[in-house]
Amino acid sequence: MRWEQVFKGRDVLSILDFTREELEELFSETDRMLSDPARYRGELSGYILATAFFEPSTRTRLSFQTAMLRLGGSYIDLGELERSSVAKGENFADTIRMLDSYADVIVVRHRLEGAARYAAEIAEAPVVNAGDGRKHHPTQAMLDLYTVRSAKGRIDGLTYGVLGDLRFGRAAASFILALSVYRPRKVYLISPQLLRARQEVLEALERAGVSYEEVSDLDSVLPELDVLYVTRIQKERFPDPAEYEKVRGSYVVTARALATAKEDLIVMHPLPRVDEIAPDVDSTKRAYYFKQAELGVWVRMALLRLILKG
Ligand code: CP
Repeated sequence: MRWEQVFKGRDVLSILDFTREELEELFSETDRMLSDPARYRGELSGYILATAFFEPSTRTRLSFQTAMLRLGGSYIDLGELERSSVAKGENFADTIRMLDSYADVIVVRHRLEGAARYAAEIAEAPVVNAGDGRKHHPTQAMLDLYTVRSAKGRIDGLTYGVLGDLRFGRAAASFILALSVYRPRKVYLISPQLLRARQEVLEALERAGVSYEEVSDLDSVLPELDVLYVTRIQKERFPDPAEYEKVRGSYVVTARALATAKEDLIVMHPLPRVDEIAPDVDSTKRAYYFKQAELGVWVRMALLRLILKG
C-alpha cells in the first residue's frame, strides 16, 4: 500500500474513517518521530497550519501548534472570536474560505455537530476535526490509542472501562468508537443512567462484534480492568441545568478507590478534569493522563506530516 496516497491531503473528521492498518501506520510514524526527533526538525518548513477554535481548548489547539513548530512549520490562529470578524457577523463558511486561502491545513473546533465536515466541503486544504459538539474528536482518539499501545504494548485483548459522561462527551465517544476498530477483550461503559452512551456508539460496538456492558458502578468491574478512561461531565452541553445537578459529582476516582484494581491498571483522561480524578492519583504509577497529553503532540506531528507530505 502506498501510504502517500492514503494520507496526503486527507480530511480527519471521524476516527471511524480510519482503518486499523492506517492507524497502525500513524502509530509507526509516531514511533519513528519519537525515536529520532532531530531527523524531522525541518520536515514541514514552509507549511502553515490554521487553528480555528469556536470553543475553548488548551491541549488540542496548543499541541497542534507545537507539533507544527517542532516540524519547522508555522501556524496562524483565528484567536478569540471577539477579536476576529466573527464578532462582526462573518459566517462560518466565509471564515473557513479565508483560512483555506492562507493555510495548508485547517484545524477546527465548533460546538455544532458536523461543523468540521462542512468546513471540509468548503476548504481545499485538509481539515482536521478538533471536536464538533458531542460527536467526534478523532485526533484525541488517535492519541488515546497510542497511549494504550505505549503503556501496554498492545490495544487488543485488554479490558477497558470508560467512566463518566458517555452521552455528551466527544472524547469518550471517540475512544469507544476507536476501540471498535480493534479487538478489546471487553469494554465496560460506566456511567449514571442519565449519561449512558448514545445509540450510534453502541451500534458501532455491536457491528464490530465488541463485547460490552453498560454498568452504573465502577467498583464492581474495577478488578477486571486494564485501562480506566475517565471523563469530565460536560456541563456546557446539558440542555437543562437541573439535569446536570442530578449527576454533578456522581463519581470521583481516588487513589484509595483504586486499591482493588490490577497492579498495572492505567488511568487515562482526555483532560481537562474538574473533580472526577482526585489529585492523589496524580503521583501514583497508574496516572497516565499527563503522559497522554504529552504523547498527543507526537501523534499530531505524525498526522500532520502524513496529511501534508504523505
Ligand atoms: N482533550 C482536549 O480536547 O482538551 P482541550 O479541550 O483542552 O483541547
